[in-house]
Amino acid sequence: MKFLAVTNESLEQGAKILKSGGLVAFPTETVYGLGADAFNAQALAKVFQVKNRPSFDPLIIHIAQIETLEKVSDLSLLDEETRKKLFILTENLWPGPLSIILPKHKNIPGIATAGLQTAAIRFPDNEAAQKLISLSTGAVAAPSANLFGGLSPTRAEHVKNGLGEKVDMILDGGSSRIGLESTVLDITGDCFKILRLGGTPKEAIERLIGNVEVVSPAGESSAEDNSALASPGLLKSHYAPRTPLYVLKREEIINKTYEQNSVFLFYNNSARDEWIKAKKINETAIIRVLSEAGNSLEAASRFFETLHELDNLNVSQIYAQLAPNEGLGDAINDRLKRGSAKNK
Ligand code: TXA
Ligand code: MG
Repeated sequence: MKFLAVTNESLEQGAKILKSGGLVAFPTETVYGLGADAFNAQALAKVFQVKNRPSFDPLIIHIAQIETLEKVSDLSLLDEETRKKLFILTENLWPGPLSIILPKHKNIPGIATAGLQTAAIRFPDNEAAQKLISLSTGAVAAPSANLFGGLSPTRAEHVKNGLGEKVDMILDGGSSRIGLESTVLDITGDCFKILRLGGTPKEAIERLIGNVEVVSPAGESSAEDNSALASPGLLKSHYAPRTPLYVLKREEIINKTYEQNSVFLFYNNSARDEWIKAKKINETAIIRVLSEAGNSLEAASRFFETLHELDNLNVSQIYAQLAPNEGLGDAINDRLKRGSAKNK
């Protein structure tokens, strides 16, 4: 496995590996992706194998030019009105953390979409990712570059620790700017649905195209039976650290006495300060704060990174505060709830 910083040469090498059917982990603005040529069924099969990913969970196809959209999706299957809305969305939100579910093009092997007639398409807002994709076949299928069900990687080191020698190359482009996966929006049905909350807030979408529905938010989903899922990213347990994670509302964490060998992850300084004032703390307490001022963008960008760090401390449990429901708060809470779903 080659571990290289992003440069013109390493991107060219990476593109060569992709074109010959290999796997390249690369940075995006959301999380690191595990890339394979989207037109190569064998390369795509390797992605599932390396991630230990169930074959019912479809991949996201990444493009780096709007013209490529027609090579990966069959837009003629959309009605006029939907095509107009798609255009508004791509004009305003691409490149960016939004994956759009569209009718799939026949050129995309069925394994990429888990046999579905639809495909999730995304144009990432990261220069290295765009160059890599452009230098390859123009379409790169990439799930998050972690083992299935675990924490998503926001640094090249996370990929190395999680997948290591199983990939051909890891391109190091520093920390992911957004730090949460893309929002997944399905526009193929009668009403538009968010299948996964993520880096593009629901409000940003609704401002452009009107109301959208959020399907089965974390905590409300009872779907253990995956066949019933609109999107397997909706699995009740997902994004889980190895260390048992428990989520608490603001009042709950403030009233919780520190437990030895635990970590307290506060959303902001104000909750932490109240907790300290309430004297629930002891001297050896391990505490982290996602965003001192409670900014949801900052909190999101630190979210997986902080959980990776805490997961490596070998403590017995992580207690985390839920975010307020604003900005990327809902997407953070979605990850927290799924990451803690096993511990109830
Ligand atoms: O930000 C991201 O989206 C990152 C970076 C690498 O781009 N990728 C990512 O991929 O998070 P992954 O595989 O971890 O998550 C893909 C999600 C899953 O929840 C999957 O079920 C959903 O997208 N998805 C993909 N294709 C779909 C389809 N045709 N219909 C419904 N859901 C789909
Ligand atoms: Mg993932």
